[in-house]
Amino acid sequence: MSLGPGDEDLVRVASLARERAYAPYSTYKVGAAIRTKRNKIHSGANVENASYGLTVCAERCASFAAVAAGDTKEWDAIAIVTGGDTLPSPCGACRQVLHEFSPALRVLLATTTGMRKATTLAELLPDAFGPERLGSARG
Ligand code: THU
Repeated sequence: MSLGPGDEDLVRVASLARERAYAPYSTYKVGAAIRTKRNKIHSGANVENASYGLTVCAERCASFAAVAAGDTKEWDAIAIVTGGDTLPSPCGACRQVLHEFSPALRVLLATTTGMRKATTLAELLPDAFGPERLGSARG
């Protein structure tokens, strides 16, 4: 799958967010930007901590920014950007968090050196656990 014209704009926003990453320990900077179907964009970057396990990935940072702004559904796409010449891939925890809010999300992977790949969350997280599974099996 290739990127559409509007997708490059989202990659650009994610690249700008990446510049604000706080990653002094890994030095691996990541930026993410989520565009909703109503064309709002929410961005985030990875934020590390001297207590390493407290680190939050760029994808979750952007997700929580969207939720905090009131956008909890109908996300069209997320762009994820890293440096170097290896494409990023969202970690399992971030895939799960993204699924909570938009199972049909398109995922645009990019590097600052020009690499691009488009995929979907459904492809990255098949047979996912979502809120609908809680319905009838409680108690
Ligand atoms: N990281 C992200 O922000 N997103 C990913 O998809 C993978 C990993 C961050 C977490 C940590 O700050 C650094 O990259 C190295 O794992």
